Amino acid sequence: MSDDTTTLPVAAVLQDVEHVPGAAKPDPIIIADDVVRRFGGMTAVDVDHLEVQKGVITALIGPNGAGKTTFFNLLTGFDAPNSGKWSFEGRSLSGKSAASVAKSGMVRTFQLTKALSRLTVLQNMLLASPNNPGERFVLSWLPFLWKKHEAEATAKAMEILARFKLDTKAQDYAGSLSGGQRKLLEMARALMTDPKIIMLDEPMAGVNPALVQSLLGHVQALRDEGMTVLFVEHDMHAVRHISDWVVVMAEGRIVAEGPPGTVMKDQAVVDAYLGAHHDTDLGDDALLDPEVLARLEAEEEKR
Ligand SMILES: Nc1ncnc2c1ncn2[C@@H]1O[C@H](COP(=O)(O)OP(=O)(O)OP(=O)(O)O)[C@@H](O)[C@H]1O
Ligand SMILES: [Mg+2]
Repeated sequence: MSDDTTTLPVAAVLQDVEHVPGAAKPDPIIIADDVVRRFGGMTAVDVDHLEVQKGVITALIGPNGAGKTTFFNLLTGFDAPNSGKWSFEGRSLSGKSAASVAKSGMVRTFQLTKALSRLTVLQNMLLASPNNPGERFVLSWLPFLWKKHEAEATAKAMEILARFKLDTKAQDYAGSLSGGQRKLLEMARALMTDPKIIMLDEPMAGVNPALVQSLLGHVQALRDEGMTVLFVEHDMHAVRHISDWVVVMAEGRIVAEGPPGTVMKDQAVVDAYLGAHHDTDLGDDALLDPEVLARLEAEEEKR
């Protein structure tokens, strides 16, 4: 066998994957089975089977309320399912706390940003640093080690901030940043832990259009450096532009999977968007077929 599938061009890695919900992947980093989350009588997530391919960018799309954020919450230990199991790099993560999920290399950002507004940008970054000495009593007693750690973590933080053009804001309070800059800070902060997979919940929402292009570039660069990216996004231009694979969720279930160019032509996807309120950007360069787009627009006008 050749050494590693991830060294092949991305399209080739996924070339033989079937365009069906729950399709097997050549090298899955996440495998989820029968994951169910109910809120009262409503089933928010009901995923039979999902495999996320390692080393590629996968977009998770679907109408509002489809269960995308809830599914992220479950996978990352911020919420507990009614049933189901999932693994990350072959190790079970079901029932693990958010902290231990993050330690294993799976980090996520939030749809609503969680930057601590009364700390500076740099302080927000340092808090995310692994082995933050503030958490480690022994280290905090040894000023020499503490200083060394702080210097290294600060250098790393500044390097990551520079990538996101936030280095000049390092000493500003996070609360003074624009919504888009806070999104960037959250992504930057997630990178402090050197994650194996980064899960982004609507990273482009509220980001200035001028910054979107560079944000997309950053996401691609992470993939090119070997990181796996799973992102939720309503902006179809972004989805089409950077994703290698698209997974579609509706009413808690995975209803379609495939490459961005073909998945939105799938009847199940069209039905999902027709049947639900959506704030998806269906502009003329959208992922959708012109024919499908015309049908959706006609449907919208009837409302
Ligand atoms: N804590 C909760 N309590 C009750 N219902 C919830 C809770 N969290 C989510 N839900 C419901 O679960 C369903 C899925 O919500 P979720 O936020 O996961 O959707 P989403 O796909 O992320 O939507 P959006 O694209 O609007 O962010 C929705 O009907 C939502 O109202
Ligand atoms: Mg959501």
